Amino acid sequence: MKKEQVMAEPFRIKVVEPIRLISREERERRIKEAGYNVFGLKSDDIYIDLLTDSGTAAMSDNQWAGIMLGDESYAGCRGFRHLEEAVHDVLGFNYVVPVHQGRAAERLLFQVMVKKGDVIPFNMPFDTTDACIRSLGGKPVNCVADVAYEPQAIHPFKGNIDLVKLRALITEVGAQKIPFIMLTITNNAGGGQPVAMSNLKEVKEVASEYEIPVFIDAARCAENAYFIQQREEGYQDRALAEIIKEQFSYSDGCTFSCKKDPMANIGGLIGLNNEELYRKILPLLIAQEGFITYGGLAGRDLEAVARGLREMTDDDLIASRIRQVEYLGELLVDSGIQIIQPVGGHALFVDVASFLPHIPQSHFPADALAVELYLESGVRAVGLGALAFSTPDEGTGETISPKMELLRLAIPRRVYTDRHMDVVAEGLKRVYERRNQIRGLRIVHAPPVLRHFLARLEPV
Ligand code: F0G
Repeated sequence: MKKEQVMAEPFRIKVVEPIRLISREERERRIKEAGYNVFGLKSDDIYIDLLTDSGTAAMSDNQWAGIMLGDESYAGCRGFRHLEEAVHDVLGFNYVVPVHQGRAAERLLFQVMVKKGDVIPFNMPFDTTDACIRSLGGKPVNCVADVAYEPQAIHPFKGNIDLVKLRALITEVGAQKIPFIMLTITNNAGGGQPVAMSNLKEVKEVASEYEIPVFIDAARCAENAYFIQQREEGYQDRALAEIIKEQFSYSDGCTFSCKKDPMANIGGLIGLNNEELYRKILPLLIAQEGFITYGGLAGRDLEAVARGLREMTDDDLIASRIRQVEYLGELLVDSGIQIIQPVGGHALFVDVASFLPHIPQSHFPADALAVELYLESGVRAVGLGALAFSTPDEGTGETISPKMELLRLAIPRRVYTDRHMDVVAEGLKRVYERRNQIRGLRIVHAPPVLRHFLARLEPV
């Protein structure tokens, strides 16, 4: 909702956790020990941690109170009933599969639905989602609108699926090879960009023509709803809660990492209306996660997730969260740094190709920039470029590099103040001023898949 006066965060701080900045010399030692990979750093050696917005939120007093009220019964605990009620009220689904985090939700759903040779049209899958589908012999195909690959193009909904691409793909491979279509809202891999309500509706219409189900990766569905409220005609006067729920009305179910918008430190779920599908998942849930009313979580965590799902529908909370991300974006743009425009909901993505044009993708410029930012100011961000997303060509085996080389600064929810954002912007600005002296990185060793998490690197 538009507000006339300046608004502060709709909360005050009751508990704090100390952080400290270690010296430049220490940071140099630490990053070397970490194999020039920020995933190898110890959190005590980090001043401001923007590695991820996942599981890093400050929970509310209400969530912590829920933790104390957790019912640890193996079967039929109260927390599960509260979760079912919250999922029904907030997302509109009748069946809930609780799991320990988002990727477990994906694995359970995909094991039931994906066969070898299947194709899954996406806007863009998150990297673990992509890996899970491939491990089952399926192939995710990006059908995101081309504008998603133009960092500077201002478009309100850069996460949209291109319906022409979607129809062409269905015609090419045949509907029987497509077990479902999936939309990630917001589109994390494409810069945290939203999907329009009209697009969700149109994708559902196309899918219905071919009787293909539609699933939503819901991790940041409240932030997506906020962008719909701000940018899509007809939604300005609608409450966030209503918009969140409408999004899911154009789907058959969702996988949900509750470590994001619901601000829980752990937890995930599958939401469904199809009882048959739900029943197919249950034996796998028991075998792989835990009994059907706790799914790998403690009863207390179920309470935190249930309460967080309701909290994320707060208009003022999501507005203030995205305002902070935009604030950091403005500081960077003022320093001449190119970022993906418009800024995403949960993170800012620096266009590293324009920041370090002299470093070829084979020398991992995004990861080199993450190292430099840590050295400069103790801030941890993450490179998302050739190290994370290069794939071998199916025919020639040659390496195909991703279209974009990005540095992601993900902002944890309710954790940092604007002053912390000032420090981040200052640090990146100083790196920008000496960008010509920055060198790339090369691999010392790395696993064949998901290599950016585990690779050890060295300066070129
Ligand atoms: N889907 C999206 C869109 C995600 O961003 C993530 C995780 C997952 C699924 C998997 O959920 O971590 O609970 O298993 N994203 C985190 C990130 C890790 O940093 O973007 P999970």
